[in-house]
Amino acid sequence: MRRSSAPRIGQWLGRPPSEESSLSRHVRVRTAAVGRGPHTGHLGDRVRSIDGWSVVDLFCGIGGLSHGLRHAGFHVVAGVDADATCEYAFETNNNANFHGKPLEEVTAAEIGGMFPQGSRRILVGCAPCTPFSAYAPRSKSRSDKWSLVGLFLDRILEVEPEIVSMENVTRLRSFRKGSVFREFVGGLRDVGYCVAEDTLDAADYGVPQHRRRLVVLASRLGPIRLPDPTCARPRTVRDAIGGLPSLDAGDADPSDPVHRSPNLSPLNLRRIRAAKPGRPWTEWDDPELVAACHRRASGASYRNVYGRMEWDRPSPTLTTGCFSFGRGRFGHPDQDRAISLREAALLQSFPRDYAFVAPDLPVTFARVGRHIGNAVPVKLSMAIGRAIRGHLEEHAA
Ligand SMILES: C[S@@+](CC[C@H](N)C(=O)[O-])C[C@H]1O[C@@H](n2cnc3c(N)ncnc32)[C@H](O)[C@@H]1O
Repeated sequence: MRRSSAPRIGQWLGRPPSEESSLSRHVRVRTAAVGRGPHTGHLGDRVRSIDGWSVVDLFCGIGGLSHGLRHAGFHVVAGVDADATCEYAFETNNNANFHGKPLEEVTAAEIGGMFPQGSRRILVGCAPCTPFSAYAPRSKSRSDKWSLVGLFLDRILEVEPEIVSMENVTRLRSFRKGSVFREFVGGLRDVGYCVAEDTLDAADYGVPQHRRRLVVLASRLGPIRLPDPTCARPRTVRDAIGGLPSLDAGDADPSDPVHRSPNLSPLNLRRIRAAKPGRPWTEWDDPELVAACHRRASGASYRNVYGRMEWDRPSPTLTTGCFSFGRGRFGHPDQDRAISLREAALLQSFPRDYAFVAPDLPVTFARVGRHIGNAVPVKLSMAIGRAIRGHLEEHAA
């Protein structure tokens, strides 16, 4: 962990004090060049920095959510994640402290201590749906699958932030007949939070990808609204990755080690040559190319693998296997390879220069693919941040 050099609460970032906006003294909003620097990229020209408020990001990963909030003007001061491999990207791109521990081992007092003294609190998090895999004790059963949602609620109730945001997969809403989600929302309402929740598609917020996610915003200050869609015409795969250098399967761009695509076996090379953008493998002419497991009657339902993306549509939802042709429609629209890790990052709306791996370390597909596929798309996070900002301007007087 390193010391944050994030701007101090109340510190001037851009204009001199005489140009301070006339908003309340509690929500001081100023124009500033937050988010500029060697690794932060450009997601818009200028953002307004919001003083007096700080964000702690639980389950922060490599910072997709934090980065969008930062570009909406918030000071993200710290993130917590059990996966220590997220530290470099989270800290380098977000200028915030990373705490590499399972949330089970981080007390509410410790989280409270991550907020600067006197700052008002925003606590955000994307409790994962698979805690039972990497970090949960072996004895945990699948019925504990959503226990981290309950733990997130416990920490919220103890830390008492004014604002809460949660993003999650839509199946949380129906899991155990909806009881886990109801308990989360009910737990917030019971202690006085106003809650807004709905399923949003990232493509409506400038992300060149269809990705439907459950988003919850909660506030102690008054009724809060989810962000309205920000773009009438969805951004496409071409908009996002059309300008990148061509690659062969198994190659990497010498000027960007993250623009690399895995090797394909001779059989997979034949398959990708047979694949047409947006069309399933069930339409291939050559039955020999069809995987053995897909030849069974039950296999035909797995249509969304071994496919290519379409240039003029948003991409399908990226997963942690986004670099693998056999694990989704992750084939490049017209090059005979899966998309590269950099292309996956751009389809998640990370800025072009987001740094994922320390310069002295190798870029591994499984690790970086997991980091990218797990992330909240940055532009969706920005829209969430703007909705929170609008709410503070209205209610935090
Ligand atoms: C959906 S991802 C978060 C993505 C992140 N918010 C972003 O936008 O980049 C969920 C994260 O939870 C982390 N995680 C899993 N179990 C955890 C635990 N017990 N405590 C803390 N983090 C955990 C995973 O390592 C993973 O990075």
